[in-house]
Amino acid sequence: MASTTTTTSGAIPALKLNDGNEMPMLAYGFGTANIFGKDDDISKLTAMAIKNGYYHLDSAEAYGNETGVGAGIKASGVPREKLYVVTKVVGTKGQDVRAALASSLAKLGVDYLDLYLVHIPFGAGSAAELQRLWAEMEAVQASGKARSIGVSNFEQADVEVVLQTAKTVPAVNQIEYHPYLQHGDLVPYLRSKNIAVAAYSALTALTSARPGPVDGTYAELAQKYGVAEGEVALRWVLDQDIVAITTSKSEERLQGYLRTLPSFKLTDEEIKRISEVGKQKHYQGPGEAYMRAKYCS
Ligand SMILES: NC(=O)c1ccc[n+]([C@@H]2O[C@H](COP(=O)([O-])OP(=O)(O)OC[C@H]3O[C@@H](n4cnc5c(N)ncnc54)[C@H](OP(=O)(O)O)[C@@H]3O)[C@@H](O)[C@H]2O)c1
Repeated sequence: MASTTTTTSGAIPALKLNDGNEMPMLAYGFGTANIFGKDDDISKLTAMAIKNGYYHLDSAEAYGNETGVGAGIKASGVPREKLYVVTKVVGTKGQDVRAALASSLAKLGVDYLDLYLVHIPFGAGSAAELQRLWAEMEAVQASGKARSIGVSNFEQADVEVVLQTAKTVPAVNQIEYHPYLQHGDLVPYLRSKNIAVAAYSALTALTSARPGPVDGTYAELAQKYGVAEGEVALRWVLDQDIVAITTSKSEERLQGYLRTLPSFKLTDEEIKRISEVGKQKHYQGPGEAYMRAKYCS
């Protein structure tokens, strides 16, 4: 099972992946539609996030804003080796992964990625095609241009398809994960295969899916620890050894996370309570449906 260790960069711990690399457990993401628009805004937000200590940057070719992220990386002045740069190939039928990677690297202005993900399993259209895409991912890792490789939005059946022919087990599965979308047995399954979990949309229960059954528990725990409810939501993820990918255009909120998240932990009983109460409601954000509509014919 993946284990937590402490990074040299300070407050944010890192998760050790199955390939020996370490992944900072709090990321700043660029796929939140209501925030990210023009390249110049992205560049400023990227530089702002990095300046505040968010070195794990979560991008994707599908977001259409890697050029802005690259400009922000450059403007930040932080050396490349201090950053943890992630992007994603969509994973459509017949897609040339090497070409997609070359394009992403050029836009991001870096010569390697820390982590490269297949964004969706359902764009490939068949098991054989998904296996071909994964073999290409293994080839780009062997080339040194992606230090770790993984997947995103994969259910157990999708991971099983990849593992049938994989030489390298995916290091990470990045999934929507919050109390209202816990994916049944997926997380224990991923752990059994030594695949780390990264969570996006961890704040859903207090943003788009509000009101709901965890509202009271979030409020109670926020009061107990003297923190914001969003920090309880992020801690629920981190305390399960799951990487949290969030985002914000508010520097104040980002600084709050870095100040507060290292200062408290939920107890096992509190983690369980949020999980149990969360199961009373099911909510999935619009991201996956958007990707299906755009990339599946
Ligand atoms: N792999 C995939 O398919 C996939 C899909 C979706 C997302 N992602 C990645 O995950 C990243 C984060 O996704 P997400 O935005 O869904 O994550 P999130 O962490 O759940 O939500 C962040 C959003 O919540 C808002 N927020 C924070 N606290 C709030 C509060 N107390 N009340 C109201 N709003 C609040 C933030 O707005 P402010 O600006 O006001 O702080 C921001 O827009 C994306 O940018 C992307 O990198 C990946």
